[in-house]
This record gives sequence, C-alpha cells and structure tokens, in this order.
Amino acid sequence: SKITVNTDKPIAEIQPTMWGIFFEDINLGADGGLYAELIKNRSFEFYSPMMGWKEIKKDGATGSVLIENRTTTNKNNPRYARFTFDASKGSYGISNEGFRGMGIKKDLQYHFSLWARAVEGNGKMRVELVNSEDESIGSATLTVGKDWTKQKVSFTATSTDLKASFKIWFEGKGIVEADMISLFPNDTWKGRPEGLRQDLVQLLADMKPGFLRFPGGCIVEGRELVTRYQWKKTVGKIEDRELIVNRWNSEFKHRSTPDYYQTFGLGFFEYFQLSEDIGASPLPILNCGMACQFNTGEVVPLEELDPYLQDALDLIEFANGDVNTTWGKLRSDLGHPAPFNLKFLGIGNEQWGPQYIERYKVFAKAIKAKYPEIKLVTSVGPSPDGELFDYLNPTLRELKADILDEHYYKNPEWFQQNASRYDNYDRKGPKIFAGEYAAQSAGIASPENKNSWKCALSEAAFMTGLERNADVVYMASYAPLFAHAEGWQWTPDLIWFNNLEAYGTANYYVQKLFASNKGTNVLSILEDKEKLTGQKGIYATAAWDNATKEIIVKLVNVTDKEARHNVELAGGKKINSTGTLTILKSQDLDAVNSFGSLNIKPTEEKVSVKGKTVAIALAPYSMTVLKVKTK
Ligand code: AHR
Repeated sequence: SKITVNTDKPIAEIQPTMWGIFFEDINLGADGGLYAELIKNRSFEFYSPMMGWKEIKKDGATGSVLIENRTTTNKNNPRYARFTFDASKGSYGISNEGFRGMGIKKDLQYHFSLWARAVEGNGKMRVELVNSEDESIGSATLTVGKDWTKQKVSFTATSTDLKASFKIWFEGKGIVEADMISLFPNDTWKGRPEGLRQDLVQLLADMKPGFLRFPGGCIVEGRELVTRYQWKKTVGKIEDRELIVNRWNSEFKHRSTPDYYQTFGLGFFEYFQLSEDIGASPLPILNCGMACQFNTGEVVPLEELDPYLQDALDLIEFANGDVNTTWGKLRSDLGHPAPFNLKFLGIGNEQWGPQYIERYKVFAKAIKAKYPEIKLVTSVGPSPDGELFDYLNPTLRELKADILDEHYYKNPEWFQQNASRYDNYDRKGPKIFAGEYAAQSAGIASPENKNSWKCALSEAAFMTGLERNADVVYMASYAPLFAHAEGWQWTPDLIWFNNLEAYGTANYYVQKLFASNKGTNVLSILEDKEKLTGQKGIYATAAWDNATKEIIVKLVNVTDKEARHNVELAGGKKINSTGTLTILKSQDLDAVNSFGSLNIKPTEEKVSVKGKTVAIALAPYSMTVLKVKTK
C-alpha cells in the first residue's frame, strides 16, 4: 500500500533534546561502573569499615588493623585505617576485592594512590595486582613519610583478568595509617586522571544524546531526607566528598547489595563535563524537600525548605554563573571557566500530592524570578493503578508548569497500544518529558525481565508516537541506563557491562537509531489519510533534517509478516535517486544481545528511489530508518 510523506510542510519542530539519556547510580552504574575506581570502600567509610577488605598474613608475620575516627577534624571523611605489623618474617598486608572483582587489562598502566603516614617503621610497602589464581600480574613499591600526604605510583599489568584483586604488603615492623586507597586504569575517558570508564562513555557518546539527566531517579530523593542527593557534597576535592549509603543498597533480598555506597567520585562537576563531552544538554534533578514516597515519605517543613531551594539557585549559578560569582568561581577553579549552559532543572523525582505542589510552588517562584530562562521539569503523580506516572495532575497545568516528567514501566503490549498517547494532548499546556520508560517483559523491575527484541520493538513503536508529537514531547529517555552483570537491582536496563566489557541491548540500538536519526522537523506521514499508529501493526514517523537536507522516515513493523509499502516523498523537493535503509530486525521476539554476541544490531543497505517513490519491504518484526537526501 501507499504511504505518503508530505516533504513540503514541516508540522512541528523537533527539539535538539528530543532523545536523551537517564543516568542513575543503580545497578552499580556509577561506583563499580562508569566511575573507573577499582577499589571498593577506599576510605573505610562503609557501614562495616572493612567491607571489601581482608587482612592477609603469611609465613609468621603478625599484624592488626584498627579503624580510627576523626569526626571533629575531618567530618566528611572521618575514618582511616591504622595498621600495626611485624613483617620482618613473612608478609602482612590487606587485599581489596573490587566491585565483584577487578577487570584488569594486559599492558595497561594502573595508577595507585593513597593518603598515608608512617607512624613507626620505614613506611615501605609493595602494591600488587593478582589474578583470580592469586598470581601476581603487576606490582610496584612506594614509601610513605612521617606526615599525611598523598602518595602515587604507577605500574603495568602483565595479563588480563576479569576477577583480579589488589594487595598492599607492608614491609618490616611498624605502624602505617592509610586512607583514600585508590587504583585507576590509565585508559579513562579522554585520559582524565581518576576519571570515567572509556568504553561505557563511548556507548553513550555513540547514541548522540540530546540531554543527560542526572543523578537519578530515586537516589535524588533518598529513602529518608538525610540520604538524599546533595550536589554541593559532590564537588571539589575527592577526599572531601562525603559518601552515603546508596538508596539501592540491599533493595531486594534476592539481589542483595549491602556494599552499595555513593562515593561521589562521579559528582556534579563530572556530570556537567560528561554532558558537554557527549554533546548532551545537562538536565540535573534536585531534591525538593521530599524523600521517596515509596519509602519513608518524609518531607521537610515548608519553613525549613530554604536550604533545598538555595541548592537549586546555587546550582544554576554553578553551571552558568560568571566566574566572579561564588559558585561560578568554584566551577572555574575546578577547571571550567566557561559556563555549562544549563537550560533545564528538575524539581523532585516521582513526587506527588499537595506536599509536592506546595514545595514546587516555592521553587518555581524563586527560580523563575531570578532565572526566567531556566525551564523547570516537574514530577507528576502516579495513575490509579500506581504503575504509571502520568499527566493526571490538573494543578500543574493550572500552575503553567514548563515540562512534566512522566514515567512508564509497562508491558510491551502497552507500548504498542499507546503510540497515539499524545495525539490529542493539550497543545497549550505543559510540554512532556518521557523521563523514564522501558517495556517490562515480566513485571516492573522483575528479575525475570529480558531485554528482548519484543520489548525493544514495542518501545520503537511507541517512540514513533513521541516523535510525531514532538511539538509537545520535548524529551524522552529509557531507564535505567546501566547494569553490572553481577550487581544489579533492576531489570531491564539499556547497557550491560562487566568489569572488562559492555554491550548495548536491542533497546539500546532502538534508542540509538532514533537519536542519531532525529531530524529537525516533523513531517506528516499518512496511509489512506491516517496516521500509522499500529492499526495494521505498522507505526511510522517522518522528519526533515535542516542540516543534512535529508528526509528521514522511521517505520516499525510489529507483525510476523513482511509488509510491502510504496513510500511517496511527496512535494516539490528534488529527491536523490538512492537512499539508505538502516534496519534492526529479528525473527525471534525473544532474541537478546549478550556479551560478545550482538544478535540485534543495525545493518545498512542502499535503496533506489523511483521518481519520488521508495518501494520498501518491511521485514517481519523490524524497525527501518529510510534516509533520502534532497538536492
Ligand atoms: O529507573 C529506576 C527507578 O524507577 C528510578 O530510580 C525511579 O525514578 C523509578 O521509580
């Protein structure tokens, strides 16, 4: 049958932010993931101070460790370890297990550092990486002095291992005190010392995301207010960033993660820097004086809301302020005098009820008065079934909220059935941020969920509806983003990794195809004068790209049959005689990607254009992007 694209009259603008990334430190997304630190519990601040560490004694050496706490002189990083040992015979030291082991690469350089002092003895130590067989795969020596200083040494690994661990051996007889024991690979993103995992950032950059939402998710709220995310505690010297327990620590018994903490090595400066690196508009979400309503539901009394509001105002100054302002100067001192060009700010995550409205009003009034150009992203309440964070709240419309943050974790059928969700949405009300969504094959966050092709294909069908409605849908992001194969709390997730490798799921390639073939304007695409919203199992959206002068048509076939269509690129434009088709497909709806095996990834082929018409055979269960240049 014939599908007609009207190439002459764009019907809406597509925001540069249309497709983006939702980042949260869940599933070891930051600590143990994107943040490349290999040592777990480097400053002994976990609830159980030796978690991740073990003392090791060999051949008659003796020793003991004592955790000391200097709360009055170092409130943010109070604990350190005091080792008293006699290793004149044998060996005494400690080993660290890393985050489910350490992924170590042959011939790569590793940078060790620690804060330490030798209270007694020669202060000599040997640091060593060992593989899963306990064989040495790299070592170095260093000596610490009598005063607290940061010491560093680098060495190269001699072999690759997924489950390596790290040891420190003390020499002779003595007492050494140590803190902030740290090990980073040399191959961090952009070679930044103590930075981010290169392969994981590359996967994000490859998506060409329009925005980066950070730092979550529920971790913004905290289970209780005391463990909410506070951005000011995440910037500045690494040893002064006070860690807190991660909200996802031990969330589910069967996926117990009692060792899950937020060290904030990946803090707000790094998030802004990352956004800039990958060409994404930064979208921070801040606590609005409310803890997670699924947990304690604590709120701060309105008369004590000021510090929360001040955090928001100061964050805008930190991101955009002149270097002569207090917070702009801090940004500059951290190495970024140029502003980060913050345009959006989220007020609360998954918050609702009168408590939210009261608090949101305070934020909106003060922020709009000082920074009218900043668009606020507001949280919306759950639907009656409790599963969907939708736009039921009329108050936010009355308050003329800028952008509403909707979340949908639903089954794949829901995604296929809701491609028209915004077709009749109020064009004059707030815009939409589809802030978290993912098709759940077995139930929300169920361990049985799979990143199956069926889920990804259903999301693709739904996303055509988001793009067709780009005049109201300004942003959208899949969630959660990352998951460590051995340390997750939530499935499905967009990107899976272990300590050496990572892969994009089928869902990742759907996101990537949409984001990297976005276009600047929506074009009308109709079959028999009707939008393609799944009536015959076919979904479609079309766009024009001003920069490349291309027509981009996205077609999704959720049926098990090939679907033949003549796509007419109607209008006055001079069309090239060939175009490209980028296709994602699988005959098997249960197919998934996995480490080393990408069953679902895009393939490209040429297609000819006869006059203005492209004859396309949409494969069963497929997503196809047709791109044709104009002259
Ligand atoms: O994406 C996982 C969680 O789902 C987020 O933290 C939260 O916002 C939502 O409930």
